[in-house]
This record gives sequence, C-alpha cells and structure tokens, in this order.
Amino acid sequence: LGPADLAGETVLVTAGPTREELDPVRYLSNYSSGKMGYAIAAAARNRGARVILVSGPTCLDAPCGVELHQVVSARQMREAVLAQAASASIIIKAAAVADYRPAQAAAQKIKKTGAEALTLTLEKNPDILAELGRIKEQRILVGFAAETADLLANARKKLTEKGLDMIVANDVSQPGAGFDVDTNIVRLLYPDGRVEELPQMSKDEVAHRLLDRVAGLRKA
Ligand code: C5P
Repeated sequence: LGPADLAGETVLVTAGPTREELDPVRYLSNYSSGKMGYAIAAAARNRGARVILVSGPTCLDAPCGVELHQVVSARQMREAVLAQAASASIIIKAAAVADYRPAQAAAQKIKKTGAEALTLTLEKNPDILAELGRIKEQRILVGFAAETADLLANARKKLTEKGLDMIVANDVSQPGAGFDVDTNIVRLLYPDGRVEELPQMSKDEVAHRLLDRVAGLRKA
C-alpha cells in the first residue's frame, strides 16, 4: 500500500470522452477510453482521499469506493463538475471534453438525400477547466493536454490561460501513449517553467507520479 498522503483531501477527477448528440441515433466523440482518469481516481483513493469521479461514457468499472457521476455531453459534465467543485480541494481534469458540439441536435434521424455533401455547423462547448480557473481559490487544478503537434507550446499555453498548477502533456500520436493503451508517456509542466519528463510507464504509475507532485503542492 502506498502513502496515505491525500487523507483529508477531496479529489475530483474527470475521465473519458464526451458525446455530442447529432440526432437521436448519432453523436460526435473521440477515442478517449477513460483509463488515465480512472487510474488517477483509484490511486487517489488508495492514498486516502475522498474521490469524486465525473465520467463520460466508458467501458470501465468505477474503482470501488469512489463516488461516480456519469455524464454524456460536455454540458452535462460542466453541470456535474461545477456542482461538485465546491467540496473539492484538488481537481484533475483528465477527460477529453469535446471542444465543439453540433449547433443543433436534430429531433429526428438525419436522412440521406440526393446531395453529395452534408455540412454540419458546430458551436463551442464551455471550457470547464478555464471556468474552474476563474473560481480557483485554494484548490489545486491539474489539466491534461493531448496533442498531436507542438505539444509543449500548446500545453504551456493552456497551463497559463486556464490558471492551472500543473498540466500533463501527452503526445497522443506516439506509440505507447495516449488514448486507449495501458501506458502513457507524459511531461509535467509547471507555472514556473519547469518541465519534468517521465519515461513510458503504466497509467497507474503515471497516476501515482502525478499525485506525488499534487501532494507536494498541497504541503507547499
Ligand atoms: O481541450 P483542451 O486541449 O484545451 O483541454 C485541456 C484541458 O482542459 C483538459 O484537462 C480537459 O479536460 C480540459 N477541458 C475542459 N473543458 C473543455 C475542454 C477541455 O475542462 N471544454
């Protein structure tokens, strides 16, 4: 058993993809499996924290002892996260939240017509983490940046713009990293400019490394 260094903390973790409804039978989503977020939830619980897990649709079982709130869309995730944020001392946003959703969810199945192309109009979803950054107070806020190009520059920009204490940057185009696999290759970035490179490791190990740093920030 690891250290109980998160006893007394309430850790809110988000995980998985969101689904954005297009019509009653279709949605837009992404390849997130939820594995990274669920690993963080289990690790935080093992280290003594109360854990609230807000999850998009995944095939995973919630770790025993965590409070699971299941959501589907980004807007539902926002509602659940904002409702739980007040009681959280640490928030870790590992979910792959859709940045855009169909501007209108059609009431009936969209039918094929004679036209060769169909144009969808998307509108921006709320950025939950940026909202949390604006009501931060004493909470520790950790974000994830899943990128396929310009990883460090993109991650640094999010860290600053969203007012985070740490961002976990992962290049989802590398084998052994990112969506669905059981391992990850990440770098941890901090507001003072430090970058910590971690080798490829299991998502459970990444979760513990990340929580080591979070526990350190809580004590600082
Ligand atoms: O979408 P983006 O790459 O900016 O996501 C970076 C971080 O922001 C992730 O931790 C993600 O969970 C969070 N996020 C969010 N709400 C969104 C989009 C992203 O909380 N609408």
